[in-house]
This record gives sequence, C-alpha cells and structure tokens, in this order.
Amino acid sequence: MIWEKMGTDKLVLLLMLASMFLVAVTAAPIGSQTYIVHMAKNMSHTDIMAKGAWYNEIMQGAKTLLSETEEDDGKDCVHHVFDKVFNGFSARLTPAQAAYMEKLPGVLKLYPNEVHTVSTTRSPSFLGLTATGAALLNESNYGEGVIIGVIDTGIWPERPSFSDVGLGPIPAKWKGICETGVAFDTTQCNLKIIGARYFLKGNEAMFGPINDTNEYRSPRDLNGHGTHCASTAAGRASSPAGKYGLAEGTAMGMAPKAKIAVYKALWRAEGAGSTDDLVAAIDQAVLDGVDVISFSIGGFSQLEFHSNPIAIATYNAVNQGVFFSASAGNDGPSAGTVENVTPWVTTVAAATQDRDLNAPVELGDGTKLSGRSPFDGTGLNGNLILPLVYAGDAAIDSSVAWNASVCQAADFLDVTLVQGRLVLCDYVPSWTSYYDIVARAGAAGIILGNTPASGEALTLTEGFLSTPFTRVGNAVRIAITNYIRATAAPAARILPAMTLIPGPKPAPQVAGFSSRGPLSVAYGGAQWLKPDISAPGVDILAAGNGQEDYAFMSGTSMACPHISGMGALLKAVHPNWSPAAIRSALMTTATVLDNTQLTITAEESGLTASPWAFGAGLALPERAMTPGLVYDMGHDDYFFFLCALGYTTEQIQVFEHGPFTCPPQVRVQDMNLPSFVALFDSLRLATQTPVTFTRTLTSVTTGVSTYNASVVNPQGFTISIDPPTLTFSPTQLMQRFVVTVTPDGTTSMPQYGSHGSVIWTDGHHYVQSPVVATNVDVW
Ligand SMILES: *[C@@H]1O[C@H](CO)[C@@H](O)[C@H](O)[C@H]1NC(C)=O
Ligand SMILES: *[C@@H]1O[C@H](CO)[C@@H](O)[C@H](O)[C@H]1NC(C)=O
Ligand SMILES: *[C@@H]1O[C@H](CO)[C@@H](O)[C@H](O)[C@H]1NC(C)=O
Ligand SMILES: *[C@@H]1O[C@H](CO)[C@@H](O)[C@H](O)[C@H]1NC(C)=O
Ligand SMILES: *[C@@H]1O[C@H](CO)[C@@H](O)[C@H](O)[C@H]1NC(C)=O
Repeated sequence: MIWEKMGTDKLVLLLMLASMFLVAVTAAPIGSQTYIVHMAKNMSHTDIMAKGAWYNEIMQGAKTLLSETEEDDGKDCVHHVFDKVFNGFSARLTPAQAAYMEKLPGVLKLYPNEVHTVSTTRSPSFLGLTATGAALLNESNYGEGVIIGVIDTGIWPERPSFSDVGLGPIPAKWKGICETGVAFDTTQCNLKIIGARYFLKGNEAMFGPINDTNEYRSPRDLNGHGTHCASTAAGRASSPAGKYGLAEGTAMGMAPKAKIAVYKALWRAEGAGSTDDLVAAIDQAVLDGVDVISFSIGGFSQLEFHSNPIAIATYNAVNQGVFFSASAGNDGPSAGTVENVTPWVTTVAAATQDRDLNAPVELGDGTKLSGRSPFDGTGLNGNLILPLVYAGDAAIDSSVAWNASVCQAADFLDVTLVQGRLVLCDYVPSWTSYYDIVARAGAAGIILGNTPASGEALTLTEGFLSTPFTRVGNAVRIAITNYIRATAAPAARILPAMTLIPGPKPAPQVAGFSSRGPLSVAYGGAQWLKPDISAPGVDILAAGNGQEDYAFMSGTSMACPHISGMGALLKAVHPNWSPAAIRSALMTTATVLDNTQLTITAEESGLTASPWAFGAGLALPERAMTPGLVYDMGHDDYFFFLCALGYTTEQIQVFEHGPFTCPPQVRVQDMNLPSFVALFDSLRLATQTPVTFTRTLTSVTTGVSTYNASVVNPQGFTISIDPPTLTFSPTQLMQRFVVTVTPDGTTSMPQYGSHGSVIWTDGHHYVQSPVVATNVDVW
C-alpha cells in the first residue's frame, strides 16, 4: 500500500520537475556518469524489491523526460540498489538528470563515482599462532563458523587453502549465494567458500566493457590479489607450501576454519573498481550475514566523510556489528598518506617479518652484501663472476643519464657497455622494464639499488628466477658504487637465495611503503591516531591464482587480511564483542618492541618509528584473546564522533536517518578510542595549557579486578591519570578516567610529535595505549 502511495506522489513530482528541466537538457553537455543516489529513509520502502522497482521507476521517469539525446537510452541504467548500509541506488545519469534527481523530494545527496584500486607461511607463527599449541586457535576452534567477507578481485577456488575437508556446516544465518559465471559454477563454493558474488556494472560504466578474453565475468580471480588476501585471512593449512624452494613450510591463514564469502568488485589486471560497485559489495556482504569485512582497497580522493559513500557504508556496517578491517595504503614513507581513516574502521599498517629471502651480491674483492631476491642460481651465467657496470655510466647520451641510471628503458643504454654485464640500476617505484634491460640491452643480470628515497626498504621482486637479479638497500648500493668507482675492472656475482630466519635486520619494522599518519587536513588533521595497528605485509606467501599455487606479495593489502583473520578468531571466542572491542583488544595488547627488544623502527631509515607509522604496534592475537579491559564503542559513540567533527545537521543526516540531537560540547578527545592524540599549538605550549581526555574502560573478565595506571611520558610532556586505580566487578563492569597531557615548558617538539603510552595493569593483563603529543601548527 505504502508503495502505491509513494508511487503516485512521486509521479506527480516527476511531471512537475520534468517540465522545468526539459529546457536544460538540450543545452546540457552529453556524457553521462555514474552517481550514487542517497535516499532519505523516511521516504523509502522497507522491502528491497519494492525499493528496486521504485528506483527503476524514478529512473524511467527521468529518462523519458530528460534523456532523448542519451546514446544508451532505453537500457536499464540502475546499477545497484543499496539497502543495508546505505539507502539508495547507483545509476548512470546525464548532468541534467543528476541536477533533476538532486531536487527530488526524498533524495538526500548525489555522489559521483570514483576509481579505487588494490592498495602465509611465516606470518602466523611469527605472530605467536602455530597450528599446534596456540590457545586462541584452540579456543576459537580455528575460527569455525565465523564468516569473513573479502571484497577484492575474486577468488581462485581450486587452491588447497580453500579445501573444505572436515569443516563444519554453513552457519544458519548465512543468506548469501554462489553466483555463477565464466569459469565459475556452484561447485566452486563449498563449506569453505560459502558464497561468491561479483559487482561489475559501475566498473563497465566507467571503463567500458571488460575484455572477455582476459577477464572472467564471474567471481574468478584474474588478478590474484583477492585469492592471496582470502587465503591470508582464512586459508587452510596446506603443506608443503613455498615457492622457488624458498619460505617452505606449512602455509596457513590466520583463521583456518573461518568461512570465506567472496565479493569481487575490483577488476582487470590493475585491480580497479568503482565506488558504487564497492558500496554494493559492502551492502550485500552485510545483508548476507558476514561477521568481518576484509577491505584491502585504497586510492580514495580525500573527501570529508559525509561526502564519501564508502565512509557512510562502513559507518552502517560497523553499527550492524561487522568488524571492518582496511588497508592503510602504500604511499609511505611520506607523512600524511594514510587512507581508510574513519574512526569506526580498523586501519592496518604493514610490517616486515623475521624472514628474509636473501640473495647477496658478492663483489670481485670477495665482499658479500645483503640483497633480496628469489634468484635460484640456475640460469644463464648463473654463478659466474661477471663484469659490473652502473647503468648511469652506460647512457647512450649524457642528456638521458638519469633515465639510463634508473634503467627506465633499454633504449637509454649503450648496448656495448651493458652487454654480458651485471648492471646496477637505481630503483624507482613501479618501474617494470628490467626484463627489457636483459632482453634488448643484453644485460647478464641486474642489481636494483635503492636510493635515499626508499632507503633500506626492500620487497621481493618476482619474475627473475633464473636470471641473476637482486634488490639491495641504499647503503649497499652506495658500497657497490664506491667499489665500481675505485676498481679498474669491477666484477660481481649474485649468490642464490636462501631463506634466513631471523633475517639480517630487526623485525618487525614498519614497511617503507606503508602509509603514515597523521590524517591529512582534508579529514580534519591529526585529531585521532591512524593507522590503528600493524600486521605483516612484506613478502607474504599465500595462495596464488592461475598456474601459481603460491605467490609472494607485499602491501598493506597483505597486512589487512591478517587483522581480518584475527578479528574472526576473536569473534569466535567472544561472539558478543563489538567491532570496537575487537579493535581495542588487538590494539591494547600489541607490541611496540621488535625482536631485539627496542621500539619498532622504520624499514627505510632504521630509525625509531612512531605510532603514526605503526599505530598501537604489531598485533599479537594470542594476547588479544584475553585483554582484560576494552575501550568499547557503539552506535552512539560513532554518532557523537560526527557531532564532535562539527558536521552540520544536513551532513550528519547522510549517516543517521532518524531524528537526532547532538549533545552539547562533545569533543573528539573524549571519543572512546584506545589511543590518545594531544594537539598543541604554540600558544598552548608556551602557556602550558594541558589537553584532557575522558575514557571508559569495560572489563571483559569475570570477578573483581583492580587495575593501576602507569605512563610513559612523551618527551617534553607529563601524563597524569585520574583516578590512578580502577576497580571492576560484576556489578561495575565500566569505569571512567581522565588523562591529562601537560607540556613541561618546552616550546618546540619534533615535527611529528613525541610519543608515549598509558598502561593499565592488574598484574596479569597489560592494557596499553599509544599517546602522541603533536604540534597542531605543522598540519
Ligand atoms: C524525510 O527526510 C527528509 C530529509 O531528511 C526531510 O526533508 C523530510 O521532511 C522528511 N519527510 C517526512 C515525511 O518525514
Ligand atoms: C585445546 O583444547 C582441548 C580441550 O578443549 C585441551 O584438551 C587442549 O589441551 C587444548 N590445547 C591447547 C594447546 O591449549
Ligand atoms: C582482448 O584481449 C585479447 C588478449 O589479450 C587481445 O588480443 C584483444 O585485442 C583484446 N580485445 C580488446 C577489444 O581489447
Ligand atoms: C626521462 O625521464 C623523465 C622522467 O620520467 C621523462 O620525463 C623524460 O621524458 C625521459 N626522457 C626521455 C628522453 O624519454
Ligand atoms: C596497585 O597499586 C597499589 C597501591 O600502590 C598496590 O598496593 C598494588 O599492588 C598495585 N597493584 C598492581 C597490580 O600493580
């Protein structure tokens, strides 16, 4: 009945508004694009089928009246209907249609579509989880029954990581399906991969049809990224794993008995997707009943949250109890590059592991220098000592000396100077022409040397298995260059790779590529800590696609599914924990120390890193199972956060459909995050005005417990805690306290702030939070 009534109202409005816009459309430029149309909930139908019909009817009306000149007139142009985490739909609209839509009653806002892109044998045991003997794996029954939705490039279901032998039934709450398509039928789903879907309409509207000869119109994974992430989060133990004879052992994901639900929304070789396909995937995953969403996706323009449909969708997903783990981005080590920064998602930075795939360079004088490569020593000129040349000395012309030095293309090199030699190239991110240097310029092998820009940060470069190849840090590159300069006939060889555990460097280190905080000004500046947490993301071995059983990959994309899997294990042990409680448990039990017992360092520099790089530290899932206390957050907390950000009623309305009133004087500092960012401007520093925070801790143990606070003061500041002791009991599970950070009279501070911590302990549990005191002036 309601539907009928709405239908009539709306038709009248359509006719009224249409007459206003008929003039505009002839003058409007042709060229439609996809918009996400946000509908007010009070105007809407409760039933998704009725919603779909209504949206189609709105579109039909708009098209009949406004789109005579549209080339694809007559096609069904509603791409996706959103229901669970976002109220509305996406559709292709001309500018005139968009303007028309925006004025329809019940339409809150239109958002243009954007492009987003894809931003383990060793990691579970490095993190304290092994197939035998970990209490968390035992108590969670390996994550049995918890559902992880992986929004990514799809899946290669035949990998042993996705075997369902011995797994329990599909949870009763599951509402998803196994969508079939090219090279994917319902038999590809099983008790492990319980569902699979794909979202392509927004993508094809943006980039044109996919090429059906080299992409699968189905959940099957062309790219490999989704398969890798899914197996890292929830792959079964499979042995022997390993690749190239390296990193051998048993490969196992974090939550080996968790269920995987696949949502393919990133496409083509580059793994790119559109906003509306991603919102549709999040919406469907929540509707299907996932517990965790793994989102290794970045490439966002820095929109305020109320203008970002993904921020709105994740707000609602988390409010419906879904633990949402997202990658921090791969734009490090520059400051201010972190992505996925909403306070309701868990943002994951990438760290190195204690394993190195080491293929050293041996110089003619016998010096051995560390390098990283899968080189197996078998190929042409395998282990021979070869003449060595720096590519920058082999340019065809001095005007292209720089292009030659980075081995940008074979054409820049003088073949007579490189043929049959090992060539030292300076590393530039995302260059891929090294094959060309071997194939066309005739180089016998390549040493890829970091410059100061990437420092000592290394990742495995795949593809050069039998050709001499290794990647070296900046210090080694300088040593090799000095040797070349000082030697009449420089020569070297690359030794075959060996797996070293531990590697030559401390571990973990923050990966050089891992995006760093603080939040950029577009998000309101450094008001809260991001990333939240770190997990392994360098040279991660997990399931591959196509012909590859296993693949090494590096990225915050690889770190994110570690946290997704840990979230699943915690959810299995503590089904009632909120997403915030899970994040809090992971953060407050994380370690900020490396395997040499010093504060975690940055891979590129070897210098002490800060919480802007590693968040609360490296997650230790075994400890997260019993955190003692959590900083919990629920719907009201996230809503208050929007108020604290100073959003207008209209801006908050896109998150909150019901009536609401912001409480007075709500502050970001009082949001119940497990981290503290104290912002000081120079005036406050000079007058020593303190910054205060209130927090509430919730006990997650039984019985009575008393916790004392201790602090590690950031350099130049003093932290005080009031009260310094908190007692929890079954009748008093929550306690409030106040943290005050006071400047000691310093008038300057390090550019990215000083850091310390607040620790609560009852003698058994250590509930630790990072504290950053930072200068508001630099943002
Ligand atoms: C529905 O919500 C919109 C936007 O929030 C508001 O302008 C409108 O008055 C509301 N309509 C009803 C019938 O409550
Ligand atoms: C795992 O749990 C079982 C029973 O639940 C217990 O007997 C066993 O000792 C546990 N193993 C570990 C390693 O905690
Ligand atoms: C599709 O891919 C195939 C194989 O890579 C290629 O030969 C063909 O030209 C492509 N078609 C289009 C329309 O791009
Ligand atoms: C050398 O590299 C620079 C930077 O990528 C590029 O702009 C320039 O065009 C290159 N030179 C030639 C001759 O291609
Ligand atoms: C907490 O502090 C009180 C008073 O200083 C002390 O008696 C008690 O042992 C402390 N408890 C813990 C777990 O440190």
